[in-house]
Amino acid sequence: MGIRIIGTGRCIPDKILNNDDLERMVDTSDEWIVTRTGIKERHIAAPEQSTSDLAAEAAKKALENAGITPDMIDMIIVSTITADHVFPCTAALVQQKIGAKKCTCFDTSAACSGLLYAFNAAYGMMASPLKYKRVLVIGAEKMSTLVDWSDRSTCVLFGDGAAAFVLENDENPDNPDFYVAGEVMADGSVADLLIVPAGGSAMPATHETVENKMHCIKMGGPKTFQLAVISMVSACRNVLEKAGLSPEDVVWAIPHQANRRIIDAVANKLGIPEKVYLNVDRYGNTSSASIGICLDELNRSGKIKRGDLILAASFGAGLTWAAMLIRW
Ligand code: UT7
Repeated sequence: MGIRIIGTGRCIPDKILNNDDLERMVDTSDEWIVTRTGIKERHIAAPEQSTSDLAAEAAKKALENAGITPDMIDMIIVSTITADHVFPCTAALVQQKIGAKKCTCFDTSAACSGLLYAFNAAYGMMASPLKYKRVLVIGAEKMSTLVDWSDRSTCVLFGDGAAAFVLENDENPDNPDFYVAGEVMADGSVADLLIVPAGGSAMPATHETVENKMHCIKMGGPKTFQLAVISMVSACRNVLEKAGLSPEDVVWAIPHQANRRIIDAVANKLGIPEKVYLNVDRYGNTSSASIGICLDELNRSGKIKRGDLILAASFGAGLTWAAMLIRW
């Protein structure tokens, strides 16, 4: 086999919301946000810009980067927790917006770990007898629609954005697979720690749910922080062990960009702080898009070359967590 990432793209909305802007909205300060999270600014999509618009824009750039046309795609997977609608799936909307023809389309919902879940699913389906040849994997979020802009403990954290990847199986045994090893996990016993309570079948929308902001993010921050560090470190160690590799073999480490302090704690425990890629200061937490935006920035700036080993790790609502070793 030779399943490889042949194109990457991202879409970052134009509007920037910086910490000074937030100081005017809630009782917070640039100093608190930077010290506790490392975030300086985040991008916010325009009202008319939906998640599928961000996803389609990133996908078009990834297709261009890969040098292929939309009709050559035979599956689209969108990882998102901010789908345009309850149904249809966002992937089908992206299919239409990029001009792809008939192909398999579905969404994955694993919050901030979603992109790694989607890569895992794509790789499995490409390597199986299903024989998907070219797959678009997209992480896209309009987190600003889930944020309670009066809750200082969460509104400073999130941003909008999307990243897309074209995977191709050229069936050339001389081309090593991009997927070296992975681990995708969840623990539903702590689902309440990070949740949007209303809007689903458990708590359908009513005037009361809207008034009580039950359609917005509720998070137990410190506990989430603690579990994020534990689970990402353990997943990274497990995938390195599965691959028979050590942290020294890694060229770039891309942790989910939720909080600079979480990233530092994970990197220090793994002993690879100098290998970490960071952009949390510019985008905040873009959930499913976070690792993807990092990868696209690294690719387009020429900081990674074919053969480099990249260790990605993420953590999010579910709780879910994942780590993946990629051979570029
Ligand atoms: O995407 C994956 C899931 N999410 C995460 O990974 C996020 C994980 N958690 C975190 O990143 C951190 O827990 C936060 C950044 C959310 C909070 O940082 P913290 O150091 O854990 O602060 P805390 O929640 O313990 O709050 C400390 C204080 C509190 O005041 P008191 O009770 O000590 O007087 C908060 O009310 O900071 C206060 N606070 C703020 N102050 C100014 C909370 N948010 C703010 C704010 N500005 N924005």
